Amino acid sequence: MVHAIRIHQTGGPEVLTWEAFEPGKPGPGEARVRHEAVGLNFIDVYYRTGLYPAPNGLPFIPGNEGAGVVTEVGDGVSHVAPGDRVAYVGPLGSYAQERLVPADRLVKLPETIACDVAASMMLKGMTARYLLRRTFKVGPGSTILFHAAAGGVGLIAGQWAAHLGATVIGTVGSDEKAELAKANGYTHVINYRTENFVERVKEITGGKGCDVVYDSVGRDTFPGSLDCLKFMGLFASFGQSSGPITDFNIGMLAQKGSLFATRQTLFNHIAARSDLEETAGELFDVVEQGVVSIQINQRYKLSDAATAHRDLEERRTTGTSVMLPE
Ligand SMILES: NC(=O)c1ccc[n+]([C@@H]2O[C@H](COP(=O)([O-])OP(=O)(O)OC[C@H]3O[C@@H](n4cnc5c(N)ncnc54)[C@H](OP(=O)(O)O)[C@@H]3O)[C@@H](O)[C@H]2O)c1
Repeated sequence: MVHAIRIHQTGGPEVLTWEAFEPGKPGPGEARVRHEAVGLNFIDVYYRTGLYPAPNGLPFIPGNEGAGVVTEVGDGVSHVAPGDRVAYVGPLGSYAQERLVPADRLVKLPETIACDVAASMMLKGMTARYLLRRTFKVGPGSTILFHAAAGGVGLIAGQWAAHLGATVIGTVGSDEKAELAKANGYTHVINYRTENFVERVKEITGGKGCDVVYDSVGRDTFPGSLDCLKFMGLFASFGQSSGPITDFNIGMLAQKGSLFATRQTLFNHIAARSDLEETAGELFDVVEQGVVSIQINQRYKLSDAATAHRDLEERRTTGTSVMLPE
């Protein structure tokens, strides 16, 4: 018997309870993984509060990201074997000391990437990759706006976009976070709690606007984000840390410059095994080359996931966080 965090009813961080758990033997196509580290992501908050319903209902074990060692595999699994160091973004259930994972979601870790780094970066780093390389192909000459620049996805995206040659504008919620963002690829950083970010983006871009705005904040930055775009620019929504956008009117896109808008999710971008391998491979490359440095700025015991959630929701974290199953 191992332990896991279970949610019996959705609500605040107090609903995260540490309980005994038996993962069982892997079935066909599955692997059992002993976690060395578990990722903390804002999507975990959406599931905990019920904004995103858990696909199999209550109770459920939250979490979509982890890294560790394969201990057993089921029939038909050939690309990983017991003893392999692996990481994944996968179905709910990573807030556990051990779990079963569909083996086609597992990627083997290069020797140079430690499990805690992997658990903290797979979901956020692969998100940065698809946003910058697929949703919009960022390159020299691109001007982009990335909200929540000092957060988990934000610090990775800033470094990566700068490496691709873009002018990178970021928003943050404090002056300390602004310093951090500036040290991680952002050319211009705006504190959107004290400054009007739309006016500042217009100043910075000489009135032209950005090619693309990456918006994971949602309610509080909408519709301002649309006003930061150039003619026919792209509004790429990918989250709602301040709450969902509920008043989206497609006509606004015409009024504000024949804009494009999309709502993106990593899970579509890595659904095919070939896409997962390509996306993870590119992330491993930029980390191994030192283009992107992964900053684990918070570590928690997995049993204390409630504190991790409080810190994340109350905007006290920067960079990535991991939880350790002791
Ligand atoms: N669609 C996808 O594929 C995908 C994948 C990964 C992540 N995401 C989204 O990307 C965002 C970032 O995820 P993350 O895990 O890296 O988290 P994070 O950025 O480390 O944390 C969220 C940040 O959002 C900012 N924020 C602004 N208003 C907020 C509010 N009212 N409450 C809480 N935070 C607020 C805070 O930074 P400031 O204090 O600087 O404002 C906070 O630190 C989340 O919205 C997440 O859902 C989407």
